[in-house]
Amino acid sequence: MTVNNEYILSGGRVVDPFQGIEAVMDLGVRDGRIADPAALGNAEKIDVSGLVVAPGFIDLHVHLRQPGSSAAETIATGTRAAAAGGFTAVVAMPNTNPPVDTVATVEYLRYYAEKNGVVKIHPCGCMTNGFAGQEMAALGSLKNAGIAAISDDGRCIQNHDLMKHIVEYAKALELPILDHCEDEILKGGGVMHEGVWSVLLGMKGMSPVAEELMVARDIIFARMIDWKIHLQHLSTKGSVEQVRAARKRGIPVTAEVTPHHLALTDEYIKKFDSDYKVNPPLRSPEDRQALLEGLADGTITVIATDHAPHTPTSKLVEFDYAPFGIIGLETAVPVTLRELYHSGILSLRDFVAKFTVGPAEVLGFDNRGLKPGCEADITIIDLQREVTVDANKFRSKSRNTPFNGLTFKGKAVATVVDGKFVFSEL
Ligand code: DOR
Repeated sequence: MTVNNEYILSGGRVVDPFQGIEAVMDLGVRDGRIADPAALGNAEKIDVSGLVVAPGFIDLHVHLRQPGSSAAETIATGTRAAAAGGFTAVVAMPNTNPPVDTVATVEYLRYYAEKNGVVKIHPCGCMTNGFAGQEMAALGSLKNAGIAAISDDGRCIQNHDLMKHIVEYAKALELPILDHCEDEILKGGGVMHEGVWSVLLGMKGMSPVAEELMVARDIIFARMIDWKIHLQHLSTKGSVEQVRAARKRGIPVTAEVTPHHLALTDEYIKKFDSDYKVNPPLRSPEDRQALLEGLADGTITVIATDHAPHTPTSKLVEFDYAPFGIIGLETAVPVTLRELYHSGILSLRDFVAKFTVGPAEVLGFDNRGLKPGCEADITIIDLQREVTVDANKFRSKSRNTPFNGLTFKGKAVATVVDGKFVFSEL
């Protein structure tokens, strides 16, 4: 779809939780920024009546796999998948090869983001060199090179003293921390949630305590050092309870949940299908319920995909040997609309906020939303359009989704970055 530099999105239901707006109104765009439609005179009108017009969705947790694993994903394919899913910006996880622990890797990412990306990429740097959990990465240099946050995602720093120092440095450098909470000894060699189904299936389980212990540690550091720590892919009831209590006490912790943890439970592992194998694992129905309640009461402020592409050949092995990971960019909106909006758990405004205000707060972004003057990053959603997931049609290079073949109601139908349509089914 080609449009001019100036246009008006006409007649849509504008839902902007940054400004507390929910109203049928026109929205103007001029030169890549939101503009007052009244000032746009005879600009082209694009009819979006019946559709939701929201600030651009931000995904805090995406594995683009470049550099190093371009058979699974690249910046070109991953950002096109993001655009098709309604995301205007992604935070790229640093567990690449080489990892994002040097200025050169950040520069590489920024170069290819500019050259091949269609949505905004905010690089995330490693907390430790090689995300090996041994020594702190050069956080100051990485920050100067342009990282938006730090994480050792995929792994968790087991050395508490090192983690404490990293939180102190992160505070000094004003770098948000995105932490994958997992005690490695307790995780053991687990491949699924430790519970009734792991016993029935004879598979090695991963204890919820492996996550909860590190959630507790991070909450203590966030309180002690008074710096914000964002907890990635929360999956257990015990984690939600801890975050709820911490936030009530004013401790600066935030948390995210993935669409797959909201939609699925450990029972699905009985299919022995490695597309359900993910870390943290799909948990029990009680855990899933706690995650839904955590979103509803504001304990969890972010939905993030943990889009983790793996090639079909790497996944097509016995369950025990398959890598952990589920892709999510192209299914997140349909799946979460079903679980949260159509089910009545979240209002539309709160639903949109989990993809916009929540992630923006974690990254410390201000001046966002659909206010005149803001960058024109816009997600347009049809709440009613039926979509049947066909992994073979994904923009992503990978196919590892447990939602293939399922039909959902509602999807992103257009994505606008800096005023340009990067995806449109209007
Ligand atoms: O399932 C996962 N896959 N969890 C992680 O934490 C890492 C990710 C990956 O990089 O494949």
